[in-house]
Amino acid sequence: MLTRRRIVIGGIATASGLLCKTATDAGVDQLAPRVMRASDAVSAADLEVAERLTALPCFDGRALPLWTFQDGPQLPVVRVKAGAPFEATIKNSLPRVGEHITIHWHGLRIANGQDGVAFMTQEPIQPGGRGTYTFTPRDTGTYFFHTHCNSVEHFGRGLFGVLIVEGDETEPSDADIVLVMKDWRLSAERDFLPFTTDDGAAKAGTAGTVRAINGATRPTIDVPASANVRLRLLNVDPTRISEVGIEGAIASIIAVDGNPCRPMPLTSWRFGPASRLDIMLRSPKAGGVVRLLDYFAREPVVLAELSAAGAPRRRDRFAATPLKSHVFAKADLANAERLTATFSATATGAAVVANSDQSGLPIGALCLSKRSFWAINKQAWPSADHKLLGPPLFKLALGRSYIFELQNLTSQPHPIHIHGHTFEILSSSLRKLFPRHRADTVLLLPKERIEVALVADNPGKWMFHCHILEHQETGMMGHIEVA
Ligand code: C2O
Ligand code: CU
Repeated sequence: MLTRRRIVIGGIATASGLLCKTATDAGVDQLAPRVMRASDAVSAADLEVAERLTALPCFDGRALPLWTFQDGPQLPVVRVKAGAPFEATIKNSLPRVGEHITIHWHGLRIANGQDGVAFMTQEPIQPGGRGTYTFTPRDTGTYFFHTHCNSVEHFGRGLFGVLIVEGDETEPSDADIVLVMKDWRLSAERDFLPFTTDDGAAKAGTAGTVRAINGATRPTIDVPASANVRLRLLNVDPTRISEVGIEGAIASIIAVDGNPCRPMPLTSWRFGPASRLDIMLRSPKAGGVVRLLDYFAREPVVLAELSAAGAPRRRDRFAATPLKSHVFAKADLANAERLTATFSATATGAAVVANSDQSGLPIGALCLSKRSFWAINKQAWPSADHKLLGPPLFKLALGRSYIFELQNLTSQPHPIHIHGHTFEILSSSLRKLFPRHRADTVLLLPKERIEVALVADNPGKWMFHCHILEHQETGMMGHIEVA
């Protein structure tokens, strides 16, 4: 234990300057882009979830009551090492009565008891309480963590953090930059707008009004010149779907949702909520600028600019080096069992509301809105007449291979996420999905059918839901059981 590096952040709002420096040195840092080193990895973190008045650059000088994990103006980036034990201590200091939390480590294949789903894998941490999570991440890459109840408001107030599992580079990059896409729902006066609307929840989600990367509108970020720059793009927006691309540099996709893939030239990439994309690019000569763009809008939107400075780092021809691959059980496609999951809209809102009002479901009002617009296999969470948890959507046999047919019957997109596992994406009815990759969240376009495969190799009850958070909270959520 003595060799363990524990970082302590949060708690003393007035001393944030000092604390932030300490935190940065110890490996949990602000989202200011910087070169990261493997030696920055920590084996423990203390996070205090609290309301903190925070002035992000995109708030135009206003300070808003964000809910965050640490003091200071931005999000935590926690870096850990693959194969090394990690422990997070979470204190719930939220100011609202009954606002309990659990922390979900999105995309990590860890033990079910550490997965952070209220009531299903643990009792939630009540205000004033503390909880601990321990796990040894086996997969490298770019992940994030967040609460798992009342997520629309929690994300809306900025409650999420970046988790980087180090150890995947065979050749170190010259810069390693975290870019978090998250829009904010602000009025013209720069106050929070309601985080959800019925109209949004029943359609594509209630969009933010101010686009931002790392809390800033169109930030300019310095990068070394003629260098191999790794970008870790995270879409933690509750609703936004982008089509990201790079102008001004040759860029390759090197990982999807943390999962290394064969480097593939990036033209553009459809990028839904909860997805991550790791990109390697060669920056231009000093003075040159690289743009990160979203082509999904009618006119391409510049999300951020990278400005190259300093002496050139490299003179060779650029070729992205592949990352070390993950170790996972390969699905036996010939003998896999086929399962179908349909994603549909529901017209049974009123009935489900009446039911959940009377059944006294301990899953709690906090985890759900009182509306039900969406369903998986016609089952809207929570399903009627189940005092505790509804029945699993699927029961999987431990060690068996499965092919899931994910069918979107609606005219909205749905980023479908599974806990505790990753899928291998096999095919789509609408498009070619290159490069062949694994993911923990797969974007289903309207009316699309996608086939994914997995080996059910992690026992427990695992959530399976849409990551447009308003869809999740209005029915498009269920669980599978692996035993
Ligand atoms: Cu980020 Cu249940 O998900
Ligand atoms: Cu959805």
